[in-house]
Amino acid sequence: MTRHFINLSDAGGDAIAAMIADAIDRKAARKSFPKGKADADAPLAGHTLAMIFEKNSTRTRVSFDMAIRQLGGTSLILDGATSQLGRGETVADTARVLSRMCDAIMIRTDDHAKIEEMAHHATVPVINGLTDLSHPCQIVADLLTAVEHGVSLPGSQWAWLGDGNNVLHSIIEAAGLFKFDVRIGVPEGYDPDPSFEREAQALGATITRTRDPHAAVANADIVVTDTWISMGQAHADEKLRAMMPYQVTPALMAHAKPGAKFLHCLPAHRGEEVVEEVIDGPQSLIWDEAENRIHGQKSVLLWALGRLG
Ligand code: CP
Ligand code: NVA
Repeated sequence: MTRHFINLSDAGGDAIAAMIADAIDRKAARKSFPKGKADADAPLAGHTLAMIFEKNSTRTRVSFDMAIRQLGGTSLILDGATSQLGRGETVADTARVLSRMCDAIMIRTDDHAKIEEMAHHATVPVINGLTDLSHPCQIVADLLTAVEHGVSLPGSQWAWLGDGNNVLHSIIEAAGLFKFDVRIGVPEGYDPDPSFEREAQALGATITRTRDPHAAVANADIVVTDTWISMGQAHADEKLRAMMPYQVTPALMAHAKPGAKFLHCLPAHRGEEVVEEVIDGPQSLIWDEAENRIHGQKSVLLWALGRLG
């Protein structure tokens, strides 16, 4: 069976725990290496990852490129505008062709149905580099960052502030797999897709939605936010006004546990979803989180190609 990574549940909790453990080991083993040097075992030597970008990216693009290099392989990038995908060649045919030429496909796109279609027709692993619905690779890095900083995932308390978006959906999915709790502070009209909440709750997570930002962060171990306007969404003053009470400030962080950590997938909009004192302050883990995209991606690639879990 081809191992696609469209959502976190494709791998499941045990495999993601193995990914986190492997990422910690590999990160430690190459501490003194230049960033482009391959790991000593170069487990994916000879492998090529095709990356398709139909939306902008800095971290996902660079981290997957560095990840496959560090595993001994190489990558190539296609973008919507210059590939035949952009001129109407079908997702299905693109999947069939890339499966003959490359060992794995990573795609960042808008409509989640596109990545499902790609996985349906590909005979090599398809990895979700973000869709409008979910961002599982980001959450592998977030879980890794939390664990590295001493958080024991089961029973931990996560607070989300702001828009009910793709990143939140993957956090809720992770909560179900690792049995942690998420309190979501979100204004009316911007709730997450309830199917993620139902599934996580069925697996034993407690997912609570509140309109009160203070209640959302009360006693939290981890406080997370993201842009109020995701890629592909129109800039709307009305939405920004609705989100303002959920801005992460030092006053809001004071309601979380002492020593609570702050995460943000980036890119950030300082002065909108978070203020400088928090994102650039001592509780913020954003640079470890960004670096961990490389280490997390390596684990995802190893799992997808049958070398892990
Ligand atoms: N966090 C994240 O996915 O960043 P990019 O959009 O830069 O890839
Ligand atoms: N929610 C954001 C995440 C960017 C990494 C977006 O979809 O634009």
